[in-house]
Amino acid sequence: MRKPIIAGNWKMNNTAAQGVELVNAIKPLVKDAQCDVVVCVPFTDIPAVSEAVKGSNVHLGAQNVHFAEKGAYTGEISAAMLKEFGVEYVIIGHSERRQYFGETDETVNKRMHAALAAGLIPIVCVGESLEERESGKTESVLDVQIREGLKGLDDVSKIVIAYEPVWAIGTGKTATAEQANETIAFIRKTCAEVFCPKCAGKVRIQYGGSMNAKNCKELMAMPEIDGGLIGGASLKAEDFSAIVHYDR
Ligand code: PGA
Repeated sequence: MRKPIIAGNWKMNNTAAQGVELVNAIKPLVKDAQCDVVVCVPFTDIPAVSEAVKGSNVHLGAQNVHFAEKGAYTGEISAAMLKEFGVEYVIIGHSERRQYFGETDETVNKRMHAALAAGLIPIVCVGESLEERESGKTESVLDVQIREGLKGLDDVSKIVIAYEPVWAIGTGKTATAEQANETIAFIRKTCAEVFCPKCAGKVRIQYGGSMNAKNCKELMAMPEIDGGLIGGASLKAEDFSAIVHYDR
């Protein structure tokens, strides 16, 4: 009942011209996809990629959004600025933002509410570090990220959650399918407690962290995993399309 969602996170890769080239290569390969297909591109790629995806089943996403409507926030981008170009999704609280740019559960929460208020669908990222996993803190870390990061949300199924163990991002080290499934089940259980069992049953929870054309089938076969947030493997049209067609 939950429609899978495969989203590419291009991170700081591809100029606008390169982005258009990539998305033009992706479009024909994914046109028959059974899942939702999203590309989350750098801000400067948005106008051109927005034109390029028109009339296709590829949806456009951004990688961050500021929480204020407008004002003195040098270097930031508002939700309305994204909406104007047809952006539908926005990644919030990616671990790289948390690690390098001081993002906290509090700012994640504010950005999520601003995105929703503007009609964007937030893809909120959560996940534990290697040290936290090895010291048995995974569940308590996720519990806090969910309770604080998603505070004030009336219905959790309005967002997408990306479970991304930090130790699996860009490292080639994937969580096993069982590990990912088990942890996502925990996230869903926590959502049922914090929000309601019905909306927890509806919220789409992706796995992210070195997901690729080879391991996607096994991960996506897991009952709790509703999609993927794909970094490295989303930068090649064939690899990304192989993940979109994980069921082939
Ligand atoms: P990766 O990145 O697929 O390159 O590990 C995933 C992400 O950071 O969203």
